Amino acid sequence: AAPGAFQSALLSWYDRHARVLPWRVPPGSEERADPYRVWLSEVMLQQTVVKAAIPYFEAFTMRWPTVENLAAAPDEDILAAWAGLGYYARARNLIACARTVAEMGGFPDTEEGLRALPGLGPYTSASIAAIAFGRPATVVDGNIERVMARLFMVETPLPAAKPDLRAAADLLTPRERPGDYAQALMDLGAVICRPKAPTCLTCPVADFCEARGNAPERLPRKQPK
Ligand code: ADE
Repeated sequence: AAPGAFQSALLSWYDRHARVLPWRVPPGSEERADPYRVWLSEVMLQQTVVKAAIPYFEAFTMRWPTVENLAAAPDEDILAAWAGLGYYARARNLIACARTVAEMGGFPDTEEGLRALPGLGPYTSASIAAIAFGRPATVVDGNIERVMARLFMVETPLPAAKPDLRAAADLLTPRERPGDYAQALMDLGAVICRPKAPTCLTCPVADFCEARGNAPERLPRKQPK
């Protein structure tokens, strides 16, 4: 089916069912999400689930409301606030990134510019570009790979399927509302298109899904180690 019909179905579901999260603006909002808050949330969410990240996100943004505030904080204060999120290297990158951005006078507003910052990989750069700057970047994480594997019934196991899953995600990414679209896919993966028990009966894009009725829970397949 046409990407446009898929995008409309997904976005209209998101308009009604978007999870309310502290780094988000409401769907379809004229207001743009704050790049600092988007960056901080995406870095935290790379290593923990949404529910566990929320208290850390609230504590950080309460204490350091801007990237300049964070950049000016002593390393030990930031590392102490990060404790519990784990993976110290990430906190080190977070500090380096905050200082680079503060020196630059703000976040770069393109995927390529973001990619050059300390600790920002393809996923984080694309998600910040889409969510904070409205760039039509293709956002792919493990949840979005799962959604794509099912939509297109990709039988190739991971990791070999990765290029195909990215190509599928790229084909569907809209030029309008790319940030809402990316977050709609994230919510779909978390709430409906779950790993073990997808709820296809309430899925807004079931009509577009090749795996529907073909045991979607078995996808994506994984190459045994
Ligand atoms: N996981 C990673 N980024 C997210 C976001 N912006 N919203 C919800 N879940 C996410």
